[in-house]
Amino acid sequence: MLKTNICNIEFKNPVIAASGTFGYGREYSEMYDLSFLGGISTKGTTLLPREGNSAPRIAETPCGMLNSVGLQNPGADKFLETELPFLKTFDTVIIANVAGSTVADYAAIVEKLENSNIDMLEVNISCPNVKEGGVAFGTNPKVAAEVTKAVREKTKKPVIMKLSPNVTDITEIAKACESEGADCISLINTLLGMRIDLKTRKPILYNNMGGFSGEAIFPVAVRMVYQVANAVKLPVIGMGGINSGKAAIEMLMAGAVAVQIGTAIITDPYAPLRIIKEIEEYLTQNNLTLKEIVGSVKLN
Ligand SMILES: Cc1cc2nc3c(=O)[nH]c(=O)nc-3n(C[C@H](O)[C@H](O)[C@H](O)COP(=O)(O)O)c2cc1C
Repeated sequence: MLKTNICNIEFKNPVIAASGTFGYGREYSEMYDLSFLGGISTKGTTLLPREGNSAPRIAETPCGMLNSVGLQNPGADKFLETELPFLKTFDTVIIANVAGSTVADYAAIVEKLENSNIDMLEVNISCPNVKEGGVAFGTNPKVAAEVTKAVREKTKKPVIMKLSPNVTDITEIAKACESEGADCISLINTLLGMRIDLKTRKPILYNNMGGFSGEAIFPVAVRMVYQVANAVKLPVIGMGGINSGKAAIEMLMAGAVAVQIGTAIITDPYAPLRIIKEIEEYLTQNNLTLKEIVGSVKLN
């Protein structure tokens, strides 16, 4: 009932663990069988290992959180040697989330993963572009297109371009990725945020600013998914603040073919399983199929 096909990849359900909130699945596998999930998007992996930013890297906010983890990860070699073989012991779609500091970095990591048994790639373009003074790749349609092109040339695997919401017109970025051969779009990554400690007058995060995620960003995510789904012909995977089956259904109605669950997993590791069950219950109670829900919003 919940089965879906995205870019010729079979998903047993449309619920995917979002990058950076599920690591490489190890901790969660001690709580439940990861094969229950539709898919897993891995922690953002870079060519070389990264230690990430200094602490504090997390700040609480009402109905959400700020993070500036800074892409801490063991690097592509370790990922291929130990994390991927572990993930592939589960019957779920494995999406390698990749990141880079230059266009060449993105091309290099994708080339490195090409002969592995990952199912799909998710390219995080919210990272700072070191050659352009740290402005994120995903905030300029020309640069987003450049990254897509560079990655496309190195892989035959399905490429999901993951967009940053920190832009004026998200459809321009999505169209730029589509024009250079992206197979799928996922959104939204975190919104840029900041909190200040009243006593010290210093930002709570060591890095001053960080990514805002969780329930509070849900309406922004629904709006952007709706806009992108109506601007491109590619399938769209929606995320941002989803914490219930009803929220997932709303995202599907906006035009997403599947959803990712991020911050909700941090507060409740079982959230994806609950959401899968709640989507199924909604469809049964309303005598609907998944296909009938996708993009079914009726504008006023
Ligand atoms: C602690 C943390 C780490 C994250 N790391 C990554 C990452 O490595 N790569 C990436 O593409 N997105 C990363 N994200 C963004 C999430 O995958 C997701 O796009 C975002 O949090 C919005 O969804 P949510 O509100 O359900 O968390 C991270 C988010 C959090 C909270």
